[in-house]
Amino acid sequence: MCGIVGYIGPRDATPIILNGLKRLEYRGYDSAGLAVLTADGIQLRREVGKLHRLQALVNEAPLSGNLGIGHTRWATHGEPSRRNAHPHLSETGRVVVAHNGIVENFLTLKEELLAEGAAFRSDTDSEVIAHLIERFLSREAGLVEAVRQTLQLLEGSNAVVVISALEPDKIIAARLGNAGGIAIGFGEGEMLVASDLPAILEHTRRVAFLEPRQMAIVQRDAVRITTLEGDAVPVQPTIVPWDPVAAEKGAYRHFMHKEIHEQVRGLTDTIAGRVDFEAGRIYFDTLRLDAAQARRIRKIFITACGTAYHAGLVGKTLLERIARVPVEVMVASEFRYADPLVGPDDVVLAISQSGETADTLAAMEEGRRKGATLWSIVNAIGSQAMRIADGYISMQVGPEIGVASTKAYTAPLVDLYMLAVLLADLRGVLPAAERRRLVADLRLVPDLVGQVLAREEEIIVVARHLKDIRSCLYIGRGINMPTAYEGALKLKEISYIHAEGYPAGEMKHGPIALLDEETPVIALAPRDPWYDKMVSQIEQAKARNAPVIAVATDGDTLIPPVADAVLWVPPTPWLLSPVVTVVPLQLLAYHIAALRGLDVDQPRNLAKSVTVE
Ligand code: AGP
Repeated sequence: MCGIVGYIGPRDATPIILNGLKRLEYRGYDSAGLAVLTADGIQLRREVGKLHRLQALVNEAPLSGNLGIGHTRWATHGEPSRRNAHPHLSETGRVVVAHNGIVENFLTLKEELLAEGAAFRSDTDSEVIAHLIERFLSREAGLVEAVRQTLQLLEGSNAVVVISALEPDKIIAARLGNAGGIAIGFGEGEMLVASDLPAILEHTRRVAFLEPRQMAIVQRDAVRITTLEGDAVPVQPTIVPWDPVAAEKGAYRHFMHKEIHEQVRGLTDTIAGRVDFEAGRIYFDTLRLDAAQARRIRKIFITACGTAYHAGLVGKTLLERIARVPVEVMVASEFRYADPLVGPDDVVLAISQSGETADTLAAMEEGRRKGATLWSIVNAIGSQAMRIADGYISMQVGPEIGVASTKAYTAPLVDLYMLAVLLADLRGVLPAAERRRLVADLRLVPDLVGQVLAREEEIIVVARHLKDIRSCLYIGRGINMPTAYEGALKLKEISYIHAEGYPAGEMKHGPIALLDEETPVIALAPRDPWYDKMVSQIEQAKARNAPVIAVATDGDTLIPPVADAVLWVPPTPWLLSPVVTVVPLQLLAYHIAALRGLDVDQPRNLAKSVTVE
């Protein structure tokens, strides 16, 4: 996850920025840089690797000034390198930009700028922002107006911070979606801007947060906030609690709520460094996989527990549909004792947020004993499931504190999608045009999730109606059947309401006997290949007087007349739909549990990582 720190004030910006970036290291990065307005104009220092290397560079070639911005980068477009590290300069060097997120339409914007004669120095999407601001500056717009006009052209979820030698009395910061927050720290005669609180708290506890589609003009003694359209927004700094845990929660009451909202940034980060959008290709260096090995794979056995198991079920559809590889999914507590028919041409793929789950580790050991290749998709860096695997994929979503897993569910779904595309590419079963289309769809995902998060108020209304229910059925088909399982698990584990996920087609084989006015049905019915079946399923449930809450795609006209409530999701490529359809279910479970006054982050009887059998 990229980190951003900016400073304007009487002190030397360089050490403040470098220390601020150090406090954001937990977010993970592969390169870093800073830009400071010195007596000789804007100076840049950028380096690959960890911050100590950047510090060494600064020690060799010191720079100081009262205005600067710094950045730690997870590569999304372009490999980790000095030239791709942020901040990025415009062509004349008058404008400096640091950026979080994915500019979804950067290829179009880059083509336009190249046609206007712009010379690019990097492979990043971020650099188009610097060039666009330069373009509007040259058309007599001032810096604020040039930035505003630029931001209105960008698509996707982004956070942007800009400084310029032309107007050295200000930092401009903007937030275009949920990709990355922007916090503004109010000091005495100085201001800080950062993507996260820890970079600010050592200087001040008076902090204001930007909402999506807002921009701030930050000067030493004054901050002005407007919408992207220029309408003034009241500036209301709050005092952030000193307690680091509370500070870490930021404006959220529970970690789970924060982590649900962090998914836009988490999905941006799990894509980071793995996708070449221009070539339409996927890279997983840590998997250490080549075409010969990919072609030798006979079968993939996915094994995991709980939420991670549900991700594996989605993975089966992705890997079989895209890569045409046979997949079997088994809960780890069964796999380890099932004497599975695993051999040396098979892969055992473990999925685990903590990487320390006893059953999952034991299942990996069973795979090892059978001679299989071990892969893992893990969030906790350095955990056993990462270390004992022959190859791994890091979820890259940062620490997940809430016991109920949310961002560590949607991230592996995208990782499995990317793995399927990579395997299909290496096994030669995917035409290039289809591969490029599947890769291009990835760019949409963070913002699609952001659109669902923006509808939270509608979901809270439904949560209020359901908060006293005693039982609930979740039903889905195909790639969204596991979404039903995951939605039910979320509700039961934090609200203690009995909830069950079921393949919708199984209802008539028993569960339909449960239906009555007291037993709501949550039906996953987005526009996917199983849509028509789900519509009739909803009608069957209604015929038994069960309240039905449907997850449906914007613009649907068949479901609203039948369902009692609809949780709307934006149109999404169906292979990626589970990433989006689970979000309303996460929020629904969260708000029901919160309304019931329960300990959402530490539900009774549960642990974040089950390290015992
Ligand atoms: C999910 O919300 C639960 N906390 C639980 O099912 C969890 O997914 C399971 O224990 C697996 O944990 P892991 O991903 O760390 O291996």
